[in-house]
Order: sequence, then structure tokens, then C-alpha cells
Amino acid sequence: MSEKKGSILYVGVLRGNEPPLDKGMIPWLGHALEFGKDAAKFLTRMKQKHGDIFTVRAAGQYITVLLDSNCYDAVLSDVVLLDQTSYAQVLMKRIFSLNLPNHNPESEKKRAEMHFQGTALTQLCSSMQNNLQHLVTPSQMGLKVSEWKKDGLFNFCYSLLFKTGYLTVFGTEKNNSASLAEIYEEFHQFDQLLPKLARTTVNKEEKQIASSAREKLWKWLTPTRLDRKSEHQSWLGNYVQQLQDEGVDAETQRRAMLLQLWVTQGNAGPAAFWVLGYLLTHPEALRVVREEIQGGKHHRPEERQKNTPVFDSVLSETLRLTAAALITREVKQDKKIHLSNGQEYQLRQGDRLCVFPFISPQMDPQIHQQPEMFQFDRFLNADGTEKKDFFKEGVRVKCPSVPWGTKDNLCPGRQFAISAIKELVSIILTRFDLELCDKNAKLPLVDPSRYGFGILQPAGDLEICYRIRS
Ligand code: HEM
Repeated sequence: MSEKKGSILYVGVLRGNEPPLDKGMIPWLGHALEFGKDAAKFLTRMKQKHGDIFTVRAAGQYITVLLDSNCYDAVLSDVVLLDQTSYAQVLMKRIFSLNLPNHNPESEKKRAEMHFQGTALTQLCSSMQNNLQHLVTPSQMGLKVSEWKKDGLFNFCYSLLFKTGYLTVFGTEKNNSASLAEIYEEFHQFDQLLPKLARTTVNKEEKQIASSAREKLWKWLTPTRLDRKSEHQSWLGNYVQQLQDEGVDAETQRRAMLLQLWVTQGNAGPAAFWVLGYLLTHPEALRVVREEIQGGKHHRPEERQKNTPVFDSVLSETLRLTAAALITREVKQDKKIHLSNGQEYQLRQGDRLCVFPFISPQMDPQIHQQPEMFQFDRFLNADGTEKKDFFKEGVRVKCPSVPWGTKDNLCPGRQFAISAIKELVSIILTRFDLELCDKNAKLPLVDPSRYGFGILQPAGDLEICYRIRS
């Protein structure tokens, strides 16, 4: 019996050196349902069965999954034979209804790097701090000083950081609190449906909700409605200019804006939720972080965030537990790769290659003891410095956690994201009284459909009571 694997006729047996193949029981569909339902659970099961590299079939596609973290950088450095554009195009179409045939993620990221470092980064961080300060005033929050209010922690963090990031990066005239709240609501609705849009599993009603949210967001994000003051120096202004130079029409430009809104605002808010959620459910960690923040209270804003080793460890530990992007490449030609133990494998043209750092290194029990536990000092040495040395079978692990992507594909906004998360958490812990409504409440479980889409989101929420201190 013969069958098509990738673009090449696959005849029952594997060719030499190909990773073990697991086609699943259902013809064509293979493992698609299990993969989509909970990618972490499925890929952990496959890793236990096959080891650090294997190929699975899902909806007619053959996907080779690589889970040996010490070879991620070397394998993914081949940007010619391992192409990231084709699958990115598919997702852009499905999620954002966007066609950008000339989209070049390589040059895109290089340009973004320039705008998120040095003086530009300092200015951006200072603008972010001002915007956040403004958003937590009693009038903006619709609160009287000392008045208690209830909310879900996820909504509280995501909405505040979204609004802050939107004002900072999109610098828009639509900045009264009612409009900002409306934009956040639409964005959140759209974001909730994003995994289903990506997997094309939305039902009719969800399709309508997503389309309506997208339409509204496109309208608000029309480049001509955004702040033109600093357009040419800003990353976003530069991006719009680039699209215009490429002859991209106005409709496509505003659709591309929504893609950038999600890329820049879709992860930091959920990450801030997990940081605060872990702190509120781990009193010892909360006490030490509070002390550290109090210690830096009198420093200037740009100095305050430096020298906070415990807070940094809490953030690293949180990202280790919740950053779950799936890095996907299309194999353009048959290609040999080497695992870190020297073993050679052959990738087949037309297949997809996926790297999932969440499973290894982040949740690998051989690297991190009790990987599912939050240990606030996991990234601290006994002398209080940052712990960088982690080992697997006696060999030093290059990166114990990969929340920002691999070497050649690092998130260009990572420093800005860290600064925004730390600023939000610091402000909340110093300016607010914040308590769990139920002192014994536990963090909600993760929504398993979000594996593969950046920072995880909770399946429920954590109820909090808060008030602005007098
Ligand atoms: C891309 C993580 C926040 C800007 C990425 C990538 C990851 C990532 C894993 C993909 C790298 C790849 O292509 O494989 C995160 C996490 C964040 C965060 C965990 C927060 C906790 C931000 C923020 C900004 C930003 C706040 C900017 C304000 C970007 C941009 C890209 C990117 C421009 C490139 C997208 C493209 O391919 O065109 N990020 N990010 N990110 N990120 Fe972030």
C-alpha cells in the first residue's frame, strides 16, 4: 500500500535515517484532533513513546517534532531550507484574513529590533510608564480612593496592559477610557477565538463574532486614524511606510495593523496575570518580591527595574511555565539535521518541522525538578545572583527556558515586554491593596487549546478584590 507523505510518494517504510513515524489510527486525519485539543499532552505522550524526534500525521500533513533543546538554534539557523514564510502566510489568512505575499519575517524582525532597543526603547518604556500611571488614576479606573472593587485577575491585568501597550505602540487619538475599553473588549473577543480561527474549527456563530470584532478593530486601526506625530520614527509608522512603499492597498494595510496589534499586545497581559496569580497564591514569594520593590521605591523609574533578582526569577519561572509558542517551519528540500548527541536524521521535503520549547527545555523533568511546580527562586543562585546553569544528563543546557523564541528568531519586543510586565506588577503591588476573594483559591488550569499560541491563558479566572490606596 502506498501513500503520499509530504509531496513525495511514501511507500510503507521509512527511508534511511528518517525520524520514527506515527500516523495515528484515522486515515488522513491522523492525530489532528488530539494535537489540536491539547498539544502539550499529545506531544509529551509522543516524546515518551518515540524520544526527542518523531514525525506525526495530522490532517494530511506530516509534522516532524524536534524536542532536543540543545540543537534548536543550530537546526533553525537554516532559514533557506527551513522556510517560515509559507505557514505564516496560511495563519495570516485564516486568523487575520490577510494576504501579504511579500511578507518577509526576517527583514520585519530586523527592523523591529532597531526600534525596540537603545534610545528608542528608553523612550518607549518612559511613554509606557506615563500611560500606565495615567490609566491607574481613580478617575480612569472609575473608582473612589479606598473603595473596594471585585474583578477577575486575568481581565484586570490583560485590560490594563493592553490599554497601556495600545496607547504606547499605536499612539492613537482614541484614548479616552470608554473607547479604550471598547477596543479592549473587541480585541479580547477576537483573541479568545484565535486558536479556533487558526485551526479552522470556528462554528457559524463564532465566525460571526470573530468577523464583527475584526471589522471594528480594522476600522479603529486604519493607519490614517492613528497618531501621525512620530510616525516616521516609530516602529509602527515605519511598518506602515514599508507597506505603502510595497504598494499594499489601504484595506490590506489596516488588516496588517490588527496582526501587529496581536503580536505586540497579545502576550504581555496574560504573562502579567500569571506573575500576579503565582504571587498571590505563593505568600512567601509575594513577601520577598514586595520587599524588593519597596527597597527600590526611591529610585528613578529607569533605575527601579534594575537589580531585582527575585522579581526577575519570578518572571523567568512564570514564563517557563506559561510560554508555549510552537515554532513551525516548512521543509523546502530533503535535509539532514543532527541532534545534540550527534545522531543524524533526514527531514523530508514538503513536511513541516515543529519545535516546542514548552515541553523541552521548559517542562523537561530531566532539566527542571518538579517542572509543573512554581518555585519562585528556581532561577536564583544561593548568593542571590541569576542562576544560568542547568544540566540534562550531565550536559549543560544551552537555554533552560525559551519564552522569546530561538536564537535567530528572538522576539524583538522582549525588553519592552519585560519592562511593561514589571512596571504593571510593581504599580499594582505598591498602589493597590489586592487580595484573593477566596483566600484558599487556586490558580485556574490553563486553557489547553492555547498551546502553540504564545503565552497561555487560563481556563477560568482568579477573583480578586482591590482598592487604590489613599
Ligand atoms: C515575535 C514572544 C511581547 C513584538 C515573537 C515571537 C515570540 C515572542 C516567541 C516569535 C519568534 C519567532 O518568529 O519564532 C513574546 C512574549 C511576549 C512578547 C512571550 C510577552 C510576554 C511582545 C511585545 C512586543 C513584541 C510587548 C512589542 C511591543 C514582537 C514582534 C515579533 C515578535 C514585532 C515579530 C513578529 C513577526 O514575525 O513579524 N514574540 N513576545 N512582543 N514579538 Fe514578541
